[in-house]
Amino acid sequence: MGIQSVITGTGAYLPEKILTNADLEKMVDTSDEWIIQRSGIKERRIAAKDETTGDMALAAAKKALEAGGLTPQDIDGVVVATTTPDRTFPSVAAKVQGELGMAPGLALDVQAVCTGFIYALSVADNFIRLGQAKRLLVIGAEKMSSIVDWKDRGTCVLFADGAGAVILEGQENDKGLEGSGIHSTHLYANGTQRDLLKTSDGTSMSGDAGVIEMQGREVFKYAVSYMADVVEETLAHNNIGPDAIDWLVPHQANIRIIESTAKKLGMSMDKVVVTVDRHGNTSAASVPLALDEAICDGRIKRGDMLLLEAMGGGLTWGAALVRY
Ligand code: ACO
Repeated sequence: MGIQSVITGTGAYLPEKILTNADLEKMVDTSDEWIIQRSGIKERRIAAKDETTGDMALAAAKKALEAGGLTPQDIDGVVVATTTPDRTFPSVAAKVQGELGMAPGLALDVQAVCTGFIYALSVADNFIRLGQAKRLLVIGAEKMSSIVDWKDRGTCVLFADGAGAVILEGQENDKGLEGSGIHSTHLYANGTQRDLLKTSDGTSMSGDAGVIEMQGREVFKYAVSYMADVVEETLAHNNIGPDAIDWLVPHQANIRIIESTAKKLGMSMDKVVVTVDRHGNTSAASVPLALDEAICDGRIKRGDMLLLEAMGGGLTWGAALVRY
């Protein structure tokens, strides 16, 4: 089967400050009961004022290097998924590369909002399969709190901050689906739905990053059907059934969307990694954060088959089948 991209290390970073539903009750007209019932979120992490997406990405990257027993000199490049970069330019990836003291190599940011990490994983996987890189850092990092309208109860209770990182390494695989690595990625966007979830402003519109505006009910409806479609496509593409999946690692936007995808797959929630209750929606950081948590606590073991999936603004959506 040739070269495949194997996950050889993971890392995560969550800001210190915890914002609970009780805290939000004091900020907007909402209740702990409403937030839990509609989203499953109990608390989330919020970055310090002077803490940037790049700082969080760097912290997660260092942990991933440590877990993989590697130094920055072992890595050929950095791909960061983010919607909330420190600056319009240079990229967060360039900051991480520079701060780690890596040798010059590719460094780029990928923007697909909450689907960003799946996109970034796919981009990095393709560089590796083409032989253009041997080892890459792939990071999902967000400071969503910086683009939240803290007066909008429909969105401010959902979003949060954090970062997760993985190291991908090209390894020869002659065992097909039994071998470790990314077996397939499936990426989509439907730009005609871009107004359902967007920022109010942007660099070339006003020079202002803007705040999140979301038609929640509509996004919810599409999220449920896109997730079901892309998960089915991934299984069919690899000629496997849902029982071949050991762990579903979904984007953590809403527990109801996660439960609906698990139900469609006939998977018990025991096989689904859930962090939304404690992390909220950290956009591109949510999948690598969930992945790292389940690897560190021993739930995900070497050889397990993982199905990663996400959807977000664009609308974008995607999935990846990965044997750990
Ligand atoms: N507290 C109390 N009431 C609220 C709150 C709140 N925080 N927010 C909204 N409400 C009210 C609404 O005003 C509405 O009241 P009304 O019936 O009097 O008009 C009522 O609650 C129901 O609102 P809905 O929007 O219909 O609630 P819903 O059950 O759809 O839940 C939610 C809202 C949680 C936003 C849900 O729609 C959702 O999760 N949507 C998808 C989000 C998502 O997946 N995003 C994708 C990724 S994000 C990214 O890419 C950046």
